[in-house]
Amino acid sequence: MAEKKFSVLVTRKIPQSGLELLRPSCELEVYPEDRPIPRQELLRKIAKVDGLLCLLSDIIDREVLDAAPRLKVLSNYAVGYNNIDVEYATRKGVVVTNTPGVLTDATADLAWALLLATARRVVEGDRLVRQGKFRGWGPMLLLGHDLKGKTLGIVGAGRIGTAVAERSVGWKMRVLYYSRRPNEFLEKELGARKVPLEELLAEADFVSLHVPLTPETHHLINGAALRKMKPTAILINTARGAVVDEPALVQALKEKRLAGAGLDVYENEPQVHPELLKLDNVVLLPHIGSATVETRDEMARIAARNLLAVLEGRKPEFPVNPQVFPTR
Ligand code: NAP
Ligand code: GLV
Ligand code: GLV
Repeated sequence: MAEKKFSVLVTRKIPQSGLELLRPSCELEVYPEDRPIPRQELLRKIAKVDGLLCLLSDIIDREVLDAAPRLKVLSNYAVGYNNIDVEYATRKGVVVTNTPGVLTDATADLAWALLLATARRVVEGDRLVRQGKFRGWGPMLLLGHDLKGKTLGIVGAGRIGTAVAERSVGWKMRVLYYSRRPNEFLEKELGARKVPLEELLAEADFVSLHVPLTPETHHLINGAALRKMKPTAILINTARGAVVDEPALVQALKEKRLAGAGLDVYENEPQVHPELLKLDNVVLLPHIGSATVETRDEMARIAARNLLAVLEGRKPEFPVNPQVFPTR
């Protein structure tokens, strides 16, 4: 058996498929509790490790990085990496990696699950049946909105945004998108049109958010943006909670300036704005965009391979800050 060369902390139990790849060459510690690792414990444990495999809920800021003199790699078990101070990690020569691509379809599917559930009032219907209030078919019971021929607005036309747009073909929707760069695939294959955000918000019947959370996209959907949307429109957020100003969204929903919202992510996760919990026209999920057995197995393998590559002195498949390499 190979010598265990590297000391590695995994901040929460992930699928075995990833842990198995790490075990042969790593002295592995997996935080055993079924909850996020407390910050004090992370600060203490990170002092002794060469590699950290962490979750999107672990905040890796300057204090954490300064507590980690041996650290060479932060392997995030997610595609989004807004939880990590990448600039500071880069300055310290720590490689940051993520798990893009493998979770694109699972997350796009979940955006559609939210879109359909919100438009057709699926969760309200389920609640009504369970409460014993189904008194038979009703001509006016739980009327929702059609999808066919409507306009879908994709904010952030990257991997997931593109996959969400592709899925609209069956509903013969018109697709508008907002991104910094043009997306040729969307334009050629779906006849999608790149438009300014204001135009997308004003025209779309369904707005689906797929930008990463960055200083530029923080509160991209604020009160003013929400006022541009149609009162019949539905907002879907599977990106990051803070892309939306949550109190402004609550206000818009309460004042019926928006028909509904389907949310997988929240501004202060795991807290959910208490007013959202009271609204019938929202569908609320617990950040499960990539949560399929197949996707999580593969994410675990990718995160493990990324981590091992850096520790073994090779370039990982998915570096977030590849500029660290030439100087190492
Ligand atoms: P991606 O391929 O990088 O796509 C993001 C797109 O956003 C890029 O193509 C980029 O296009 C655009 N963008 C970035 N900054 C922008 C800005 N300031 N204004 C307008 N557009 C901007 O990433 P992805 O794999 O699709 O993932 C997107 C995000 O989804 C992740 O960052 C993560 O936060 C979230 N996510 C959530 C879940 C979940 O469980 N709910 C699962 C997976 C991912 P341009 O460069 O052309 O602007
Ligand atoms: C999930 O939210 C991810 O960014 O992978
Ligand atoms: C509904 O069930 C119908 O037959 O129209």
